[in-house]
Amino acid sequence: MAKIKRIGVLTSGGDAPGMNAAIRAVTRTALYHGLEVIGIRHGYDGMINGYFKLMKTFHVSDIIQRGGTILKTARSEGFRTPEGRKEAYERLKERGIDGVVVIGGDGTFTGARIFGEEYDIPLIGIPGTIDNDLYGTDYTIGYDTALNTVIEAVDKIRDTASSHNRLFFIEVMGAEAGFIALRSGVACGAEAIIIPEVKDQVKNLRAFLEEGYKRKKSSNIIIVAEGAYPGGAFGVADAVKDDFEGYSVRVTVLGHIQRGGSPSAFDRFTASRLGYAAVDALLDDQQSAMVGLQNNEIALVPFNKAVKLHKEVKKEYLEFANVLSI
Ligand code: F6P
Repeated sequence: MAKIKRIGVLTSGGDAPGMNAAIRAVTRTALYHGLEVIGIRHGYDGMINGYFKLMKTFHVSDIIQRGGTILKTARSEGFRTPEGRKEAYERLKERGIDGVVVIGGDGTFTGARIFGEEYDIPLIGIPGTIDNDLYGTDYTIGYDTALNTVIEAVDKIRDTASSHNRLFFIEVMGAEAGFIALRSGVACGAEAIIIPEVKDQVKNLRAFLEEGYKRKKSSNIIIVAEGAYPGGAFGVADAVKDDFEGYSVRVTVLGHIQRGGSPSAFDRFTASRLGYAAVDALLDDQQSAMVGLQNNEIALVPFNKAVKLHKEVKKEYLEFANVLSI
């Protein structure tokens, strides 16, 4: 008999499409195993304040296709403090919660790692962030949907860019990482992709664009990761556009549309798979670890590694992206 009887589940940090599918999978897997499930609303803030809700199977009906998170989310300041974490632990104990599944990214797992070191409570993480920047997992929930949102928007911008012979700088999210930019840039045939992980790209961009103009390129789409350059896409545009001949320049910041929308099939499937695996891990007495995907297999990655080690982008993708955009 598993010693865990009642688990909590929360979402924290930036929401990501597919989080609801993960909540559904955690809830139903736990109920299947005879556990009680408590939804913790508003992330770690809800843990501190006792925003708890008993979850039955019907509470997660009709949500697999919905973006956002039915449990709400927050970037909790309180949980960064020892006092806040103490409050949180007391609320969990009062409610008899003896294991928690946390769905989120880097900040979420950093909090979970510290909490798990301070208090005797098993925590298992599910990677959920559009940024895909977590070490130890090939994919995070929401990344695929965000990529599809980006390419749909960029395809539309391409129509107007080529109609006017324009140079478009399009900023995508990703925090300090270039995963969204790199993959969406390849997928929409961007002429250049500017990411934080590669230095001096902007220095060479102007010459590259002039070359393209000589080759009679009618438009250029430059995907800029938000963390790649001071001022983001506006900053890059300012750096290259002075006296630019041939093209007029426009800048588009895609912003938070990248975080919303109905999750893709891949995100729904992955979220369901990871949600199931997370409860399995708790029942198996695992703790302080994230369930990730490595080469399409479930992998248990200690929070320590997931938050402290750096996930590398595949810079070689830029090489073929450059070749394909001539
Ligand atoms: O981590 C997800 C993310 O969307 C990042 O790509 C972005 O930098 C950040 O969150 C934006 O955060 P907020 O919604 O708090 O402005």
